[in-house]
Amino acid sequence: MPARVYSCAVLGLEGVLVEVEVDFTSGFGLIFVVGLPDTAVKESRERVRAAIKNIPVKFPRRSIVINLAPANVRKEGPSYDLPMAVGILTASGIIAQGAVDDLIIVGELSLDGTVRHTPGLLPMAVMARDEGYKSICVPVEDAPEASLVPDLQILPVRSLAELTEHLIGAETITPYKKSPVQQLPPLETLTDFQEIKGQEHVKRSLEVAAAGNHNLLMNGPPGAGKTLLARSLPGIMPMMSLDEAIDVTRIYSIMDKLPKNTPLLQHRPFRSPHHTISHAGLVGGGTWPQPGEISLAHRGVLFLDEFPEFGRRVLEMLRQPLEDKVITISRAQGSLTFPSNFMLVAAMNPCPCGYYGDPLKACSCSTTTITRYQKRLSGPLLDRIDIQVDVPRVEFEKLSSDRQGEPSCQVRERVEKARNRQQERLADSPRSSNGEMIPREIREFCSLDNKCHSLLRGAAQQLGLSARSYHKVLKLSRTIADLAGEETIKTTHLGEALQYQPRDGN
Ligand SMILES: Nc1ncnc2c1ncn2[C@@H]1O[C@H](COP(=O)(O)OP(=O)(O)O)[C@@H](O)[C@H]1O
Ligand SMILES: [Mg+2]
Repeated sequence: MPARVYSCAVLGLEGVLVEVEVDFTSGFGLIFVVGLPDTAVKESRERVRAAIKNIPVKFPRRSIVINLAPANVRKEGPSYDLPMAVGILTASGIIAQGAVDDLIIVGELSLDGTVRHTPGLLPMAVMARDEGYKSICVPVEDAPEASLVPDLQILPVRSLAELTEHLIGAETITPYKKSPVQQLPPLETLTDFQEIKGQEHVKRSLEVAAAGNHNLLMNGPPGAGKTLLARSLPGIMPMMSLDEAIDVTRIYSIMDKLPKNTPLLQHRPFRSPHHTISHAGLVGGGTWPQPGEISLAHRGVLFLDEFPEFGRRVLEMLRQPLEDKVITISRAQGSLTFPSNFMLVAAMNPCPCGYYGDPLKACSCSTTTITRYQKRLSGPLLDRIDIQVDVPRVEFEKLSSDRQGEPSCQVRERVEKARNRQQERLADSPRSSNGEMIPREIREFCSLDNKCHSLLRGAAQQLGLSARSYHKVLKLSRTIADLAGEETIKTTHLGEALQYQPRDGN
């Protein structure tokens, strides 16, 4: 009977059970591994051999065959070292099969048998719990991350020797003591609203965007403060619930992007990829698909500075995830889906030199260059942006004044109240904010009285609003009414929403 130890692979964002079967075969001293890619096997084999030599047991004087099943699941990385080593010790009779039956074992080994940090522990722990395993053995460093999953015992392992002692009953490992999640204060590294001078109407548009989860485009000359304003957004968005935080942490966990000593990401992500980013880097991809920036920005902000400079093909790729809030990447082996429910915040200069329309500095671009620059953004993409706002340069007096604005935490309180109203209203829907509403919901929740109707009709003609923009205006009016705590949309709300529409009606 081969020995059988249980471990875990990560497919997309989901943990998948992997069985590590170990048996002896004819010959002496060789280790054959099936079910892993070539280079990984070679390295793993050497680490496992060295680690076992470093504990006081005899390395079996026979050849070993290890099978990682199921064969069709991609097993990547070094996280199978520890289960393979335990499998060899179980096949040798040092560890009893019964001791490893209800355990998931994950971890990379160093040559001296120490267990090292392994990415992706959070989805693995979720799998262990869902499949009914009692405990999961994880690298000691990763125990806090795994412990986010309730109803599962976490055994923090320092070394192969320590785990062996535990499994033969010589010295037990104390399970990791879970502590309740402490809510962290807002990030200091991002901008607080009160540091931004002037720009009151832009700040208001950010508040509306945050309140209803609306995408936003800022247009203004260099130095006007667009980047500064964008960076202030996560601070006024509602705090993430524990479920949301775990949802975001999973993505960073598999990408091995969790900051050290931060098992749970509690702050909304802010991602600002450069415009030279590849298409796979932005939306995800690769032979074995990995999430891209749009997934790293899940539940947070994706800031695209110099928006028209992003390749047109790259920008067009955003349309589907903006609509579906997930991205599906298809490969010959099957397709994988990653979450990508982000708020798009884009910034652009009005023209290539940046000063078109600036009262102080002359623009050096020709009319055709300006038109061509602005045309780089396609109508269908702009259609998915609810708010367009001009960011003029701040006057010197305002910049140099000591007057402090409202701090982010105060704005966030209003935003949270407005979001709560939306959540109640959309309780029966999979969507939870106005920005996400589908046409049927817009019809149901954004009804207008006669006065509003005639205002909208007039504006639609004057601004040349398209049918699609009409829906944007309704959704925005709903959010503005929610911020005001009003059940019905009034002309003032509608009027403000119309201000956020571009003149040509895109
Ligand atoms: N409204 C403002 N309040 C305070 N500082 C500002 C403001 N606008 C711009 N600044 C300052 O000017 C710098 C440039 O702003 P930035 O956000 O990079 O402009 P943009 O992205 O529009 O080119 C910022 O680092 C900030 O220090
Ligand atoms: Mg900038």
